[in-house]
Amino acid sequence: MQMNEYNLEFKPKSKKSLNSNDLLRLIFGYVARIANEKNLDNLLMLMADMGKEMIMADRCSLWILDREKNELWTRVAHGVNEIRIPANSGLVGHSIASEQQLFIDDAYKDNRFNPDVDKKTGYRTQAIIVIPFRNSEGEIIGAYQAINKMTRSKKFTAKDLEYLTLAASYSGNSLESTLLNLEIEETQKEIIFTMGEIGESRSKETGNHIKRVADYSKILALKYGMDDNEAELLKIASPMHDIGKVAISDSILKKPGKLTDEEFDTMKSHTEVGYNLLKGSSRKILKAAAIVARQHHEKWNGRGYPDGVKGEDIHIYGRITAIADVFDALGSDRCYKKAWELDRILNLFKEERGNHFDPLLVDLFIDNIGELVHIRDAYSDVYGE
Ligand code: C2E
Ligand code: SIN
Ligand code: SIN
Ligand code: SIN
Ligand code: FE
Ligand code: FE
Repeated sequence: MQMNEYNLEFKPKSKKSLNSNDLLRLIFGYVARIANEKNLDNLLMLMADMGKEMIMADRCSLWILDREKNELWTRVAHGVNEIRIPANSGLVGHSIASEQQLFIDDAYKDNRFNPDVDKKTGYRTQAIIVIPFRNSEGEIIGAYQAINKMTRSKKFTAKDLEYLTLAASYSGNSLESTLLNLEIEETQKEIIFTMGEIGESRSKETGNHIKRVADYSKILALKYGMDDNEAELLKIASPMHDIGKVAISDSILKKPGKLTDEEFDTMKSHTEVGYNLLKGSSRKILKAAAIVARQHHEKWNGRGYPDGVKGEDIHIYGRITAIADVFDALGSDRCYKKAWELDRILNLFKEERGNHFDPLLVDLFIDNIGELVHIRDAYSDVYGE
């Protein structure tokens, strides 16, 4: 098992069981860290390490029950993809389904054991303890699994079972609140994406447009040097750039031909309408979305709308989404025009470098056009959902 950054300084000197003093120090050390940890992966790693050290197991994992997919998942190390198994499979599945602890000296002699994970990881499981844990409503949400005792006997003891049960009851509660927070975040993202889709569906555009704009925006943000958190924030927020189109009448929005000057003036209001819808929120995502809604039609040379701001006075979110949006709009059929060929699109970006668009971003855009086209093809309106 990979070491992680949470290894405590305390280390047992030999492979003997811990005395109660050691154990208390260990538990207090971990509890303080667990209480402050909000990232799910880190939390799972901490809990696994705590269990592992408490009972001197070689490995310890926390399995989480995904009721929607009817699967169990775990992560064996930082940065490694999660492992998923059907919820009813193996010893962990059995323990969860039967709501019973398992205590086994040799897993391979137990026909409930599923050797698939061993096969995937190249590991040899022998002794094993599985303890389900519950949320505050008493529902089972996952299980602790400890594998292979590190003492000479290679067998877990009744004390080990007792300690791990303690760890499990504590972990169940900590995990529950973290999982709830994640669910709230996921819900927010879904609501935001749906809001964006509403804006687009009014103008008969597919959900794929906003998916593409979101992905292009994140790539450009990363190439620009934004950190991954902020690039992800822009990805989540950018689908709302046209939310203000909800206020534009069909006769303008769906007009098959060119807009009159007056109609275009009305159309331009979608930027401020969107901004006004979003600006009241103190949520990070909605604040970013408000900026994007207001500024995605600003131009580097100051000739955009609604404010006519110029250069770096346009927020980087606005400058990035402008490119992502126009790239996608040009490559797509619209009620008022046919999709353009890639060459013609690239020519426009070269012409508009330093005029409509931030020159540095245009360079990044051109340098990475392959990656962007790849996304376009993956979410094309023909083959997409
Ligand atoms: P949209 O269709 O999503 O286009 C977004 C932006 O992509 C446009 O912002 C423009 O910068 C660029 N773009 C799209 N198609 C073309 C094109 O054929 N040539 C060039 N040079 N650029 C293009 P813009 O111009 O501010 O327009 C904002 C929105 O207003 C458009 O979003 C569309 O919903 C609407 N719109 C603009 N012009 C017309 C039009 O002639 N007829 C209709 N029915 N709607 C229009
Ligand atoms: C939009 O820019 O509003 C939608 C464009 C699309 O479907 O590509
Ligand atoms: C995110 O969920 O990735 C963004 C954080 C936030 O604003 O809630
Ligand atoms: C639109 O306004 O329809 C699309 C352009 C954009 O996505 O801003
Ligand atoms: Fe727009
Ligand atoms: Fe758009």
